[in-house]
Amino acid sequence: MLCPVRCALSQDWNRVDFFEKIASSYDTILDLLSIGLYRRFLRKAVEILAPGKGERILDICSGTGRVASWMAQAVGSGGEIVGMDMAAGMVEVAKSRYGGLTNTLFLQKDVTEPWGYQNYFDGIFASFSLHEIGETERPRVIQQSFMALKEKGRMVIADFNPQLSGIRRILLLIFFKLFERENLDFLSLKLEEILERAGFRRIQTFPVLSGLFLITIVYRNQN
Ligand SMILES: C[S@@+](CC[C@H](N)C(=O)[O-])C[C@H]1O[C@@H](n2cnc3c(N)ncnc32)[C@H](O)[C@@H]1O
Repeated sequence: MLCPVRCALSQDWNRVDFFEKIASSYDTILDLLSIGLYRRFLRKAVEILAPGKGERILDICSGTGRVASWMAQAVGSGGEIVGMDMAAGMVEVAKSRYGGLTNTLFLQKDVTEPWGYQNYFDGIFASFSLHEIGETERPRVIQQSFMALKEKGRMVIADFNPQLSGIRRILLLIFFKLFERENLDFLSLKLEEILERAGFRRIQTFPVLSGLFLITIVYRNQN
């Protein structure tokens, strides 16, 4: 149980190795450390995406597949969920826990590489994913999301809030220095600019927990 904390505090840890090692206990650890807030935040983000019966939803950086399994229930047997994660350990856990879901597919895939989906999904879900992706690759992932969505599709991004100021920014900065050193550039992300440049319209944001976290929903088209 202490391994993730030890890894996070050591200087030479590697994030992919970290996710490989932690995969089977990831959800439990995050739920315990956040006293259940992590799970509630993800539930709220899914509520905002509002997957409906028969829809096709992509979960990028799907981790253990927990959120994908919730969305699989929502879309029902006529819908389809695709989860993509680059960590083999995460994909194994997802398949062993939720492999029985006939409407769900888990792929081991680096989302910075081409996905091979165009105009296919009704919704895309990205929770605590964008901050994991390199600064130069983030715009490409957003662009791919735009292309992979149907005309009336929408995307939800649920992550830390990079647009904070004052004491809350300092708190987040300390957290990132301790646990997310490799992703520090996320705190200067201009998310709205990147989304608009990719072609997204109608950006709505929902700050959570005093604004430390942010859920963003964007639509492919104006209406
Ligand atoms: C912080 S976890 C979040 C998992 C899940 N989305 C959640 O909210 O519980 C980040 C996940 O992103 C995956 N990941 C990081 N970079 C990736 C990439 N380039 N392509 C695919 N998955 C990636 C990691 O393996 C890990 O499972």
